[in-house]
Amino acid sequence: MNRISAARRGILATVLLTSMALVTSMTLAGAAGAPESNSNGCTGGQLGITKRPFGATPDGTAVDVYRLTNSHCMRVKIITYGGIVQSLKIPDRDGRLRNVVLGFDNLQDYVVNNSPYFGAIIGRYANRIADGQFTLDGVTYELPKNNGPNTLHGGPMGFHTKVWRARVVGGQDSVGLKLRYTSPDGEEGFPGRLETAVKYLLTEDNTLRIRYRATTDEPTVVNLTNHSYFNLSGEGSGAIYDHVLELNADAYTPVDPTLIPTGEIAPVAGTPFDFRSPTSIGARIRSNHPQIAVGRGYDHNYVLNQPPSGLGHAASVFDPHSGRVLEILTTEPGVQFYSGNFLDGTLIGTSGRFYRQSDGFALETQHYPDSPNQPSFPSTVLRPGEEYDTTTVFRFSVRG
Ligand code: GLA
Repeated sequence: MNRISAARRGILATVLLTSMALVTSMTLAGAAGAPESNSNGCTGGQLGITKRPFGATPDGTAVDVYRLTNSHCMRVKIITYGGIVQSLKIPDRDGRLRNVVLGFDNLQDYVVNNSPYFGAIIGRYANRIADGQFTLDGVTYELPKNNGPNTLHGGPMGFHTKVWRARVVGGQDSVGLKLRYTSPDGEEGFPGRLETAVKYLLTEDNTLRIRYRATTDEPTVVNLTNHSYFNLSGEGSGAIYDHVLELNADAYTPVDPTLIPTGEIAPVAGTPFDFRSPTSIGARIRSNHPQIAVGRGYDHNYVLNQPPSGLGHAASVFDPHSGRVLEILTTEPGVQFYSGNFLDGTLIGTSGRFYRQSDGFALETQHYPDSPNQPSFPSTVLRPGEEYDTTTVFRFSVRG
């Protein structure tokens, strides 16, 4: 009798929990105003944002995931850990939705496997600083070395590992998330307390606009970017060799064997680095060129042909299989084109498939690597009273 009623109580509890879960997810979908899409396409939707828990870091800090939607079927998920773009869904030429960024489906994987920097905000200094040190106003600062002899992407505990404070923002034609993080003086070896804000804005023209702002109370160096890896055929679908890339750059910065710029600004003309005319990424990735050998593919900073001020066209990428097009605009002077060379088939991504070499590419808008040690490069110094303020735009469309 007792056992029967316990079983009955169990069934009742299960039914109750299931219906509560259903109600919760319906409420959230309703709040987003975005009807669910099926595997064949998207049925519409509207501008909206919802928030859900995404677990907690090992020290117990709660992490949330925000889902931003627009009425043209673009859906972006951003987590407060690392400000990571965890998923970005966009229709192909036939209206089929796929997630086109690499990542994981759970927080634990992001915490444990943070070296690919999937989708994360990178700071304080995107890319490399030689020998983990730089001198500013006569003072030499030592940074943790996490990439051979160099410091990469702000150090091992860079901004990609921080839990950011989030606030929903947006206007009539946009919905967004403003993330804030205060980096204390001396964090990862960098001087000055840095107040950082990164705003992600999804607009009705299928654009994700990212604005990075920062102020400091002591002279310091800053270089912020987002490290999304794209695969316009869909995350987990294989290599991106057929993607056709156009890069608005006449020159690039060649690197030494540890991927630090030599200081030379080299013309791309006549090399496998010339993407001024649209060319597939795979066409020359196996060229016997010393710089391709050093990077094991493309892992180089391009010197953009930029307008004197404002947003300039940096790159566009077309995937002939899906018809998806990504255009990138930026206020930054450079972009790191990284062809996913260090993905080695050991990580399982969001849809449960292993990522192998070149299963995604990154176009990280930035100031040039190692600028704090290269006086001829555009400066990355930020002083009290100044504001760091850069913008990068990822715009999606389709081509027949
Ligand atoms: C950047 C670097 C690469 C690599 C990736 C992350 O793109 O330039 O060398 O470190 O980040 O794996």
